[in-house]
Amino acid sequence: MRGRMNWRMDGEFIVIIHKLLRHPLVLSLKMIAHHKVTNRLDHSIGVAYRSYKLAKRLGLNHESVARAALLHDLFVETRTDIAQLMMGSHNAAHPRLALQNAKTLCTLSPKEEDIILSHMFLCTIESWVVTLVDKWCAIGERTRLITYP
Ligand SMILES: [Fe+2]
Ligand SMILES: [Fe+2]
Repeated sequence: MRGRMNWRMDGEFIVIIHKLLRHPLVLSLKMIAHHKVTNRLDHSIGVAYRSYKLAKRLGLNHESVARAALLHDLFVETRTDIAQLMMGSHNAAHPRLALQNAKTLCTLSPKEEDIILSHMFLCTIESWVVTLVDKWCAIGERTRLITYP
């Protein structure tokens, strides 16, 4: 998972993503700086290939994982643009923009939609709070330490 992984040598991965990878909107991500050290297309492919490899190893739906990961940051708006859309924080809004855009490229399965929408779910402080409290409540309820009137 670390360092360089040459996805170009992996025919099975290429078969899964090659149609999406040819789309002009996907290719346009090459022109967008991402995380200050790369561009959004290389980041998306890097996430897609590593996610694909991990999903395969775990026996998960690696095709859906590869497709959704490739599309997970499919947006061209800047942080300033997104702030003006009033869709919440950047971390909350950009998965929804990516999903809207991805749906114009292809038909996504419910699992693929969920992967794109939820890829930032622990990147907002609110999602950390709700996730932690949800698990805390679930354990409390199962152990009868938490009861409701
Ligand atoms: Fe990303
Ligand atoms: Fe993202």
